[in-house]
Amino acid sequence: MIITTKNKNAVSFRRLTGADYDKLTHYLLQLSPETKNRFGPHPFDKTAVSHFYQTNPYNTGYIAEDDSGGSIVAYAIIRLGYLEHDGDRLRSSGFVPDHFTDVTYAPSVADHWQGLGIGYHLLQFIEEELKTMGRQRIILWGGVQQENENAVRYYLKNGFIILGAFEYNGPNYDMVKTIG
Ligand SMILES: CC(C)(COP(=O)(O)OP(=O)(O)OC[C@H]1O[C@@H](n2cnc3c(N)ncnc32)[C@H](O)[C@@H]1OP(=O)(O)O)[C@@H](O)C(=O)NCCC(=O)NCCS
Repeated sequence: MIITTKNKNAVSFRRLTGADYDKLTHYLLQLSPETKNRFGPHPFDKTAVSHFYQTNPYNTGYIAEDDSGGSIVAYAIIRLGYLEHDGDRLRSSGFVPDHFTDVTYAPSVADHWQGLGIGYHLLQFIEEELKTMGRQRIILWGGVQQENENAVRYYLKNGFIILGAFEYNGPNYDMVKTIG
């Protein structure tokens, strides 16, 4: 899928493959300390990336590439099911997580590409795939820090609702979106 961003760049979306690991490592290392702090499903070196995908078949990566230079400008992870260590917390909000219908989502967009609609299109692209797989709900990976206002706004604009709040290095929200 190819889209044109708000600043008129062509960006395309696809699944991550093993051939992308060098490019992905480069993308991760150039993120600002602030963005790095907010995106934490795995460490940022190539060994960790490769381990993350090769040892867990439930993890899938998605990337957005700048069509003019070919570099990665956004990266998101989908884990089929929910994170076991988040299960009790999600249930305490009255939510019943389900490994067969839920997925867990962690997005990131390169600093200079944020606020241009890439996060929106990335989610649209992923949702189309998830629907064909019969998945019905998207849960945030480890929630979102409440002080990360851009991300909270992004999730609310894209149809996520707040399930509850919890403390982990400060206040966070659990959020979920129903698709389909
Ligand atoms: C959160 C994130 C993935 C959103 O992606 P994005 O491409 O910036 O989002 P979009 O351009 O689709 O923006 C949608 C809305 O989110 C808000 N938003 C998100 N990031 C923004 C930014 N950096 N600047 C301005 N608005 C932003 C705005 O409300 C925007 O809507 P609007 O343009 O109609 O006002 C991205 O900002 C990011 O990677 N942040 C750092 C890492 C992070 O926080 N990941 C999530 C951890 S839970």
